[in-house]
Amino acid sequence: MKVLVVGGAGYIGSHTTYELIRAGHEVVVLDNLATGNIKSIHPSARFFWGDIRRKSDITRVLQAEAQAGKPFDVAMHFAAKLIVPESLSQPLAYYENNVEGLRTMLEALVDCDVRNIVFSSTAAVYGAPESSICSEGDPTVPINPYGESKLACEKMIEWVAAAHDLNYCILRYFNVAGADASLEIGLDKDQLTHLIPVLMQASLGIREQLYIYGNDYDTPDGTCIRDYVHVTDLAQAHVLGAEYILGKQASLRANLGSGTGFSVKEVVDAAAKLFEVPFSYAPRRAGDPPKLIASIEHAQEVLGWKPQLDLRAILESDYNFRKKLLER
Ligand code: UFG
Repeated sequence: MKVLVVGGAGYIGSHTTYELIRAGHEVVVLDNLATGNIKSIHPSARFFWGDIRRKSDITRVLQAEAQAGKPFDVAMHFAAKLIVPESLSQPLAYYENNVEGLRTMLEALVDCDVRNIVFSSTAAVYGAPESSICSEGDPTVPINPYGESKLACEKMIEWVAAAHDLNYCILRYFNVAGADASLEIGLDKDQLTHLIPVLMQASLGIREQLYIYGNDYDTPDGTCIRDYVHVTDLAQAHVLGAEYILGKQASLRANLGSGTGFSVKEVVDAAAKLFEVPFSYAPRRAGDPPKLIASIEHAQEVLGWKPQLDLRAILESDYNFRKKLLER
């Protein structure tokens, strides 16, 4: 399979590129390096600089490969903004980058006859669900602009698929964390906001402490419950998803999580068994739903996918990656 990975210098895009190459596929990465890191691109992948909001940046690559006699089989979209609190303060940036970026990319794909797309969506489309476990058919009622922007993208893909004979694989991520076993890549950004990397930075003395946002939620210990999935497991699901839509000429939408919830305090306790974790409680953070856990039955049934790496492996790999960054 020949795959265009848009956003392949970013966290999930780079891990997916590694897994695609390990599975024997050919990868071309397109990235504007706004948040991605050129060093995260697998050495066997070819790289083109480009911005998905500019159609010519995408068509240039699609046409060049087609003219060389080897068009792309599948395109994967990872080039999105994904920080919930940032989306509340800069909603228009989320619509511009996520929605307009995808619209431009879809137009280029349709024009150049690439008819298979794998798209990164999010559990944030469910909002603050009534049921404790989210299934793909559950109501989608986002409570922040990030989730809204991704839901708009999902709907756009469905309409375009119906009109232009496109196959799609929409993957709704829960809380992704951890680093590749090689420690060559991981979540490497200047301003980290997600729980596990922030916790590790507190452990390694890069920041003073971790603040747990809110301990008055309606959960057993009062802190929010999330479903953590290792980035390598998640990346492997993308390989299976792309192979599925290409092989079966069908579409699918699936949750990717572990199927198990941990509260913020439980994550801190699990980490504290491995490393020291200075923390204190702080007020709630805006836009946080109390509880999000995935039903992963659909991905298991359709793709034969099951996560192999547990919370301990997630914590250890992120810690080791961050330690290695300090030694560089
Ligand atoms: N948290 C803290 N302290 C921190 C950082 C986070 O207590 O310093 C808490 C948050 O308040 C939340 C939980 O840890 O309760 C998880 O927060 P993250 O920022 O790590 O992740 P989010 O749940 O906000 O969002 C992530 C992805 C979204 C995805 C969502 C689905 O960024 O794309 O998981 O569960 F939609």
